[in-house]
Amino acid sequence: MTTGEQHSSKNGDNRNEPDSSELTLPNDRAPVLRVIPMPRDINVAGDVFGGWIMAQVDLAGSVPAAEHAQGRIVTVAVNSFLFKQPVAVGDLCSFYAKVDKVGRTSMRVFVEVYAQRRLKPKEVVKVTEAYITYVAVDEHRKPRPVPPLE
Ligand SMILES: CC(C)(COP(=O)(O)OP(=O)(O)OC[C@H]1O[C@@H](n2cnc3c(N)ncnc32)[C@H](O)[C@@H]1OP(=O)(O)O)[C@@H](O)C(=O)NCCC(=O)NCCS
Repeated sequence: MTTGEQHSSKNGDNRNEPDSSELTLPNDRAPVLRVIPMPRDINVAGDVFGGWIMAQVDLAGSVPAAEHAQGRIVTVAVNSFLFKQPVAVGDLCSFYAKVDKVGRTSMRVFVEVYAQRRLKPKEVVKVTEAYITYVAVDEHRKPRPVPPLE
C-alpha cells in the first residue's frame, strides 16, 4: 500500500474487485489530472478502452516531467504498464504522478490511477500503475540536460 492510502468502508460495487479495493484517494498529494471517461471511450466488452487510459497516463506523467525539465519534453518509453482493475464509464479517474528517477536528459515518472466508482468517494480502487520515461528536448528536438532530483 502506498503512503497516504487508507482503508475505507466496504465497496458496495458488484463488479469483481478483489484485494486492492477498499481505499480512499491518497491524502498526501494532489492528482495532476482528474477525468471521467465517456461512452465513446469503451471497448467491445463495455469497459473503458485501455488505450484511453494509456493516453491519459501519458498526459498525467508529462505534467511533473515538464515541470522538472522546465520546458519541452517528449515521451521516449513506456517502461511498464499495469491495468489492475477495469474502469467504467462514469468513474472519476484521478491520476497521481511524480518524477522518481532522473538521468542526464531523461526523467522516469511513476503514475498511479484511482477510480471512484460513479463519483462515490468511498468506492475507490487503484486501476493502473505505470512508469513512463520522458526526455527534455531543445528547440531542435535534441535532448537537453535536466536538473537532478532534490
Ligand atoms: C527522445 C529522443 C529525443 C531521444 O533522442 P536520442 O538521440 O535517442 O537521444 P539519446 O540516445 O541521447 O537518449 C536520450 C535519453 O533518453 C533515454 N532513452 C532512450 N531510449 C530509451 C528507452 N527505450 N527507455 C528509457 N530511456 C531511454 C536515454 O537513456 C537518454 O537518457 P539520459 O540522457 O538521461 O541518459 C528521440 O528518440 C525522439 O525524438 N523520439 C520521439 C519522441 C516522440 O515523438 N514521442 C512521442 C511519441 S507519439
